[in-house]
Amino acid sequence: MTPQLSSVATLLLLGSFLAPVSSSEIPPQAQLIDQRAFNVLPATQPPAEFNAKSLFVPPGSTGDSLAQKPFHVYDKEFLKIIGETPTLTRIAHSPKDPLYHEAVVWSKGTDEVFFVQNAGAKNASTGLEKSAIIQKISLAEAAAVSDKSDAVGLVNVPVVHSSPQVINPNGATNYRGQIIFAGEGQGDNVPPALWVMNPKDPFNTTVILNNYFGRQFNSLNDLAIHPKNKDIYFTDTIYGYVQDFRPAPGLQDQVYRFNPETGAVTIVADGFDHPNGFTFSPDGKHAYVADTGIDSGFFGLNFTRAASVYRFDVKDDGTLENRKTFAFVHSGAPDGIHCDSEGNVYAGCGDGVHVWNPSGKLIGKIYVGSGTANFNFAGQGRMVICAETDLYYATLAADGSYVDSEM
Ligand SMILES: *[C@@H]1O[C@H](CO)[C@@H](O)[C@H](O)[C@H]1NC(C)=O
Ligand SMILES: *[C@@H]1O[C@H](CO)[C@@H](O)[C@H](O)[C@H]1NC(C)=O
Ligand SMILES: *[C@@H]1O[C@H](CO)[C@@H](O)[C@H](O)[C@H]1NC(C)=O
Repeated sequence: MTPQLSSVATLLLLGSFLAPVSSSEIPPQAQLIDQRAFNVLPATQPPAEFNAKSLFVPPGSTGDSLAQKPFHVYDKEFLKIIGETPTLTRIAHSPKDPLYHEAVVWSKGTDEVFFVQNAGAKNASTGLEKSAIIQKISLAEAAAVSDKSDAVGLVNVPVVHSSPQVINPNGATNYRGQIIFAGEGQGDNVPPALWVMNPKDPFNTTVILNNYFGRQFNSLNDLAIHPKNKDIYFTDTIYGYVQDFRPAPGLQDQVYRFNPETGAVTIVADGFDHPNGFTFSPDGKHAYVADTGIDSGFFGLNFTRAASVYRFDVKDDGTLENRKTFAFVHSGAPDGIHCDSEGNVYAGCGDGVHVWNPSGKLIGKIYVGSGTANFNFAGQGRMVICAETDLYYATLAADGSYVDSEM
């Protein structure tokens, strides 16, 4: 091949990467992010100045332009996920208190989405002083304002008075027609626990697990039900301690499995830094664990540690094997994690929800420009996103992966 031909071939090759997405295919609320535009930057900053806490603004973009068209297409595969007219609406705002944090869960029966306040944030004055609260929204109310980008004040966000109150809930999923929360516990004597809550008034609760052979868990963080064996898999990690509302940990941070029929509690994985979000692929063949190792609460941030998603194979007997590093997040750390019905993987990160295809390639983001601990699908084409002091409602084409047929 002559040099001329080879540069033509290079151009053609580059062209074939560009060609799949033409700007006419990009929905009005979306924008193409061409990663080649920042493979080589004219100037970069040292880690003390630019790191996982920094917002990355690619050349040619501004903070405003990233937010104006919040569906960021990194790969054309994302177009199928967002469909032709995705929307993002801010539906609630809190000036200071991080009321919209975690445990986002759809109650199909009432068509509502529940979520919880940040138990560990100083601005919430929760944790040891008082328990984080649960709140909810009606999806019909959210859908009615989805043509707006800002609809703060137009959607009711009532407090859910669980009884007895779920103490410092942090993770949640559907469970046998009810909602199950992972609670982080409070102080020395209220142990971390799994709480089942009736999603309807009077929101009565029952604790179904609160110890490991008499030993308190550290602070339960997140959980998921396996689609086939229906056991409850949950993560336990040190956040209650490093956020000043639980004693020093008495167990290794790890992932457990609970069979409520037999009462058996077994270990399924360890070797993490701070195991956090947990989910299964829709077919139940893979488990995903998000590790927020870079964030150690009062010990500070350490950017050389994990901000990663690990994938395991789930064997027929429900045990996990073949740990693989699936994704590493450039912004913040991956927290809440969920799959869509096609097996794409979504996690709440430092600037919004990141989306990877099943081979771990970043294909898009739902960008909110600030820390997004968790989010969830709420039926076909609907998603609720918790970004601490802001709550968002998104419409897109994808559907979630749901385990509980009675939800
Ligand atoms: C607490 O709230 C204030 C606004 O009142 C804000 O400036 C500050 O960043 C918040 N702190 C954290 C850790 O979010
Ligand atoms: C709530 O109360 C109802 C009626 O007593 C009961 O059937 C249900 O199991 C309770 N749910 C929980 C989670 O405690
Ligand atoms: C950051 O974490 C690494 C890996 O665990 C550790 O070796 C290092 O000492 C930590 N740095 C600080 C400043 O704590």
